[in-house]
Amino acid sequence: MTALPRTLQDDLARVRPPYAQSATLPPACYHDETVLAAEQALLFRRGWVGIGRADRWSKPGDFSALDIGGVPVAVLRDKEGTLRAYANTCRHRGAKLLEGCGNTQRITCPFHAWTYGLDGALRGAPRMAHAPDFNKGDHGMIPFRAEERSGFAFVCLDQETGDIDGWLGDFDAIHSPWPLDQLVTTRRRELEVGCNWKLFLEVFNEYYHLPYVHGGTFGEIYGEPDPVDETTGAFTSQFGLTKGTGGLKESEQEFALAPMPGLNGRNCDGTRYTWAYPAMTFAAGTDAMWVYEARPLAVDRCHVSMSVCFPQATIDTDGFAARADHYYQRMDEALEEDRGMLERQQAGMTSPFARQGRFGELEPSVANFAFWYAEQMTAA
Ligand code: FES
Ligand SMILES: [Fe+2]
Repeated sequence: MTALPRTLQDDLARVRPPYAQSATLPPACYHDETVLAAEQALLFRRGWVGIGRADRWSKPGDFSALDIGGVPVAVLRDKEGTLRAYANTCRHRGAKLLEGCGNTQRITCPFHAWTYGLDGALRGAPRMAHAPDFNKGDHGMIPFRAEERSGFAFVCLDQETGDIDGWLGDFDAIHSPWPLDQLVTTRRRELEVGCNWKLFLEVFNEYYHLPYVHGGTFGEIYGEPDPVDETTGAFTSQFGLTKGTGGLKESEQEFALAPMPGLNGRNCDGTRYTWAYPAMTFAAGTDAMWVYEARPLAVDRCHVSMSVCFPQATIDTDGFAARADHYYQRMDEALEEDRGMLERQQAGMTSPFARQGRFGELEPSVANFAFWYAEQMTAA
C-alpha cells in the first residue's frame, strides 16, 4: 500500500527502462513530505539498508544508535562477535535506550534502569517483583535482522523481506576482484548536506558532472566509463578506467599507495562505482575504497557518513598516514564541490516549475536507481 497521489504514480510510471527513453524521477520525489513518508516505509523500513562498514563495530560492546526509516535502531556487536540490531526502545515505557555511539557491556535505560544484555535479553528491572506474572523473558529488546557481507553491515526492519543474499543477488560476484571484506576503515566523517538524500547518492554515481563540477581537481582523471553492469541484486555498478588513481587529485598522483592485494588486469587501472539501494554507495579504486551513506533528515536535508578504507598491508607501510591524508583531502574537496551543486539543485528542484527531465548517456546508474525506486514506491 502506498499513499502516493495518483498524479505522482503516473509520473513514476514514465520512469522505466530503457534509460534512453525514460523520464527522470518527478521533482516531487525531492521535496514532498508524503513522498518522504512513503520512502521511509517502503524503502528504509522494508529493505536491507546498508549502514556502512562493519568494522565500525569491531569489538564486543561497540554500539551505535541510528535512525533507519524514522525508527530508532541500536546496532551493536555482541559478546560472541555477531553484529546485532534492535529497536532502540525500552520495553518498560518506551524511552530511547542508547544515544550516539560507544562501547558498553550492558544497556541500561536512563529512565528507570531496566537493563538489557548485548543479546537483547532483559537482565534487571528494579522494583518489579510486586507483579507476580511479570516475566523478564517476555520483555527483551525487539530484534531486527543484521548481516555482514563483503565487510559492509546491513539491517532489515521487516521480517517479511527475503534474506540478504537474495537482496544482493550477484553483488559478491561483481565485486570479487576487490578484497572488500579485508579493507579497514582509517577515516570516518559524518556531516549534514542541504539536499534530498537521493540527490547526494545520484551525483556520486554519474560521470556526467565530472568535467563541470570537478574539472579543476580530479575530473580529468576519469575516462569514458564501461557500460553499466547488468545486475540481479538491489544495486547498480559501473566500472571506468582512470589515468592514475581516482582516489587522488590529478596534481597529487605522486602520493598514490599500492594496489589492493590480488587486484589485476584492468581493475588495477580504474574504479568501480556501486550504489547498494537504497542509501549506501562506494567507489572501489585500485588502492582505496571510499564509502558514503546518505539517509534523510528531512525532504531537503540528509545525514551523510563518509568512510575511507585501505588494505591492512597498505596501512602497515611507512609513511601511510601522510599519504592517506592526500586521499582524505581529495574526498573532502570533492564533497564540497558536490555540496555546492547539490544545494543549488535542491533549490531549483523545489520550484513548482521543475519538471521531470531526461537521462544523459553518462547517467545509467542514476537511471537504474530510479527504475528500482519507481518499482518499490508503486508496488502494491
Ligand atoms: S522507560 Fe526504560 S526503564 Fe522505564
Ligand atoms: Fe561529484
